[in-house]
Amino acid sequence: PPVNNQKADPKVATSTDFPLNGDLGTLTTGSGNPVPSNQTSQTAGYYGPVLLQDFHLIDKLAHFDRERIPERVVHAKGAGAHGYFEVTKDVSHLTCAKFLSEVGKRTPIFTRFSTVGGESGSADTARDPRGFSVKFYTEEGNWDMVGNNTPIFFVRDPIKFPDFIHTQKRDPRTHLKNPDMQWDFWSLVPEALHQVMILFSNRGTPDGFRHMHGYSSHTLKLVKADGTFHYVKWHFRTNQGIKNLTAQQAAELSGSNPDYATQDLFEAIERGDHPSWTVSIQIFTEEEARKLKYDPFDVTKVVSQKDFPLHEVGRMVLDRNPENYFAEVEQAAFSPSHMVPGIAPSPDRMLQGRLFSYPDTHRHRLGANYLQLPINQPLGAVRNHQRDGPMCFGGNGGRLPNYEPNSFGGPQEAPATREIDARAAVEGYIGRHTYQLTDEDFDQPRALYRLLSAGEQQDLVNNMAANIAQAKPVFQRSILPHLKRIDGEFGARIEAFLKDHNSGL
Ligand code: HEM
Repeated sequence: PPVNNQKADPKVATSTDFPLNGDLGTLTTGSGNPVPSNQTSQTAGYYGPVLLQDFHLIDKLAHFDRERIPERVVHAKGAGAHGYFEVTKDVSHLTCAKFLSEVGKRTPIFTRFSTVGGESGSADTARDPRGFSVKFYTEEGNWDMVGNNTPIFFVRDPIKFPDFIHTQKRDPRTHLKNPDMQWDFWSLVPEALHQVMILFSNRGTPDGFRHMHGYSSHTLKLVKADGTFHYVKWHFRTNQGIKNLTAQQAAELSGSNPDYATQDLFEAIERGDHPSWTVSIQIFTEEEARKLKYDPFDVTKVVSQKDFPLHEVGRMVLDRNPENYFAEVEQAAFSPSHMVPGIAPSPDRMLQGRLFSYPDTHRHRLGANYLQLPINQPLGAVRNHQRDGPMCFGGNGGRLPNYEPNSFGGPQEAPATREIDARAAVEGYIGRHTYQLTDEDFDQPRALYRLLSAGEQQDLVNNMAANIAQAKPVFQRSILPHLKRIDGEFGARIEAFLKDHNSGL
């Protein structure tokens, strides 16, 4: 039988980026046994069948068969990078969070940017909000800031989130994107239109991940050691400047380079052009929150920067690419419920829903021990009485007691943090306290429209109307009154576009 023992020419291999050109010891099976051949399966004779006793072949195929984990149900396409956060202004009077304790203090971070609606192979330049997640590896465990590049969101009750996302994904029958679904939903949930306007503005197609801001969107709390707190909204403002793509550029890039933003981030960091963001907060008290005309816990609303200006806190810099995409980016598990003492949730209903949803999806996507994966591990030791479960690695607590209370000892509670997380007044009665649609839901979208330059207004009208035109006339008709309620001229311009473009209206 012919023998093919060809080896790659080592001179050719140097042209790639692999940090290696030579032997690295014996190739082994997963169980550490030497592999006799990685090129030829064991067969019964030259023309005979392949043998089950070839462990390396079976293990290699079986492992390959299981390479994919479920992709994120939303935000499936993304890119990540390591870096640091540095405190630049003193906020120790607002919070006991240790990573914020003094100017100059640095905390390692891992950041992931993403689109929302597309699958993991979808185009980076799709018109979509962008995810903006930052994991702070602090000495008190991890704080995850899981935000977007928009200060607001489409819906304000978590019970609406799965339905909203279904309208952004594929039609259950055709498996196609379906503009009818989204315009139907938005005309029935018009509080979404504030975010819809941002989506169809030029900020809906940012030029890569480096040229956009990030926001917590939700109101959070900064808490002091005595339990007193301020409400805050986090803003990460890009130092690269805002840069957006036109609808046409974005559409072209979707075809010519669907990984445009992933490549841009990777290459910038690789050439030492480290992107950075100035991190600031808006601060307001409980009393000030009560006096506001709008509900600061309704994530479809912004909190005015005129009333509550930005206060600088620090700087985020991304200076290191992942070594391995799957291990670091795909397995990263961000959750708004990963919080440190001194940072706490507000009553924002959407945020409350998210506190549950993220660890729940991580247990499904990565397994019950997802926090043991290196990218998700906190800097310090993890000590508790949780044990076992699938893919439990490390010592699993060794021979220490796995229950508490016990008469032997073990990790001790931190009573000093009790006051910090427990202080919040509640009033009223349990019930379905429905948000009513009011004029206030149209005030901020109107202000946004009037804030745009003439050119930006024109882009918004064109982008939005071109999309509405793809929905059936019945849905075009149902969205128009809401757009007119935002601003008569805005609605009229969309209507005129639809009529001019034979949308069937
Ligand atoms: C990802 C649920 C609202 C930002 C996800 C994932 C789920 C989810 C299940 C996948 C996570 C994973 O597989 O690791 C929800 C629910 C929401 C909600 C139930 C409302 C009730 C929001 C809002 C924001 C946001 C308001 C921004 C302010 C993100 C980001 C990711 C994400 C950035 C990607 C995280 C990453 O980079 O791994 N969301 N989401 N989500 N969500 Fe949400």
